[in-house]
Amino acid sequence: TDMRRRLRLRGDASLTLLLGAALALLLYAQRDGSAPTSSAPQEPGRVARRPTLRPRMFQVPDVPDAGAAPPAYEEDTPAPPTPPGPFDFRGYLRAKDQRRFPLLINQPHKCRGDGARGGRPDLLIAVKSVAADFERRQAVRQTWGSEGRVQGALVRRVFLLGVPRGPGTEGADAEGAAMPAHWRALLHAESRAYADILLWAFDDTFFNLTLKEIHFLAWASAFCPDVHFVFKGDADVFVHIGNLLEFLAPRDPAQDLLAGDVILQARPIRVRSSKYYIPEAVYGLPVYPAYAGGGGFVLSGATLRRLSSACKQVELFPIDDVFLGMCLQRLRLTPEPHPAFRTFGISQPSAAPHLHTFDPCFYRELVVVHGLSAADIWLMWRLLHGPYGPVCAHPQPVVAGSFQWDS
Ligand SMILES: *[C@@H]1O[C@H](CO)[C@@H](O)[C@H](O)[C@H]1NC(C)=O
Repeated sequence: TDMRRRLRLRGDASLTLLLGAALALLLYAQRDGSAPTSSAPQEPGRVARRPTLRPRMFQVPDVPDAGAAPPAYEEDTPAPPTPPGPFDFRGYLRAKDQRRFPLLINQPHKCRGDGARGGRPDLLIAVKSVAADFERRQAVRQTWGSEGRVQGALVRRVFLLGVPRGPGTEGADAEGAAMPAHWRALLHAESRAYADILLWAFDDTFFNLTLKEIHFLAWASAFCPDVHFVFKGDADVFVHIGNLLEFLAPRDPAQDLLAGDVILQARPIRVRSSKYYIPEAVYGLPVYPAYAGGGGFVLSGATLRRLSSACKQVELFPIDDVFLGMCLQRLRLTPEPHPAFRTFGISQPSAAPHLHTFDPCFYRELVVVHGLSAADIWLMWRLLHGPYGPVCAHPQPVVAGSFQWDS
């Protein structure tokens, strides 16, 4: 394809830039002294080893508030609700065998050639969302998640939802009857307007994200069997679709691929008060299998189908990205690390107090960045795709076209 040709042409020039940037980063990191840590609140385990040296910072010369601490985005993220008090592992283990829930809103034509805007997608974007997070869905629809042709590739989008737990609802029954009426109305209206809502009849809670994972894999295998690649992520990420497509262009969708922010040797958290507490009775091994951070990762069509059936053999585990790592392990498939996937965020105030994360030149070099508000997603998109583009220190994006994923 012509995507592939362009990629090769740009390869050499960009590689030089990449090496230059890597050198600058190394020098910079040494000057900084303290090793950057990456213990974001999303992190389910203690990370013993990251597979790559992750360049974390670029200096921005003309930012007036560069001395201020980077903004904390976590607060405005309506994450799936975590139940108050300690997690009920007994209940979880008891209910674990119930792992099939009906689909309440489907998009059966999403990937079919006979749909109105049909055709087999090159890239299916699947975004975990909760009913209340309408604004981020809108931002994603208007920006990195927009459907249609991007650099010649056909892109399609779905949002993955469970039944919202509203005040006064005691969970959902099989028909989602306990769903507060106005959420139900909203999701149906969104489905009619945008044809991108998938809603399943399980409670949309943090510990049910694993259910979301297996239901999505099953759905995509059934309704998008010929899709080339799937990007799956959170609604509070910014994805540089151009960079993602350039990375995917030389890849064969018939081969196994799962790439992202890979965590190796993470240890289960045994501290009861942690959101990620896992008792030894539930997981006895000292480390988790390698897994890709759930904020955003990409997989090939071949891996999608294999994962979908592998996950059926794996017992449910309450942390969704670790669960996926267990499915991968079953397939003896190692996830590929990519330094441009920043699913655990990029701002680390203590390591880099002067770091200004809201620099389009920085985002231009990445594929996935986690932890943005709806407004930030929209603004970053405008800055990157505006008529003049951002004015950056280096004229070419460092990542685009040249990134060596399998060095
Ligand atoms: C997951 O969803 C099911 C079905 O709605 C519900 O019964 C269960 O309590 C939920 N589990 C968790 C851990 O939230």
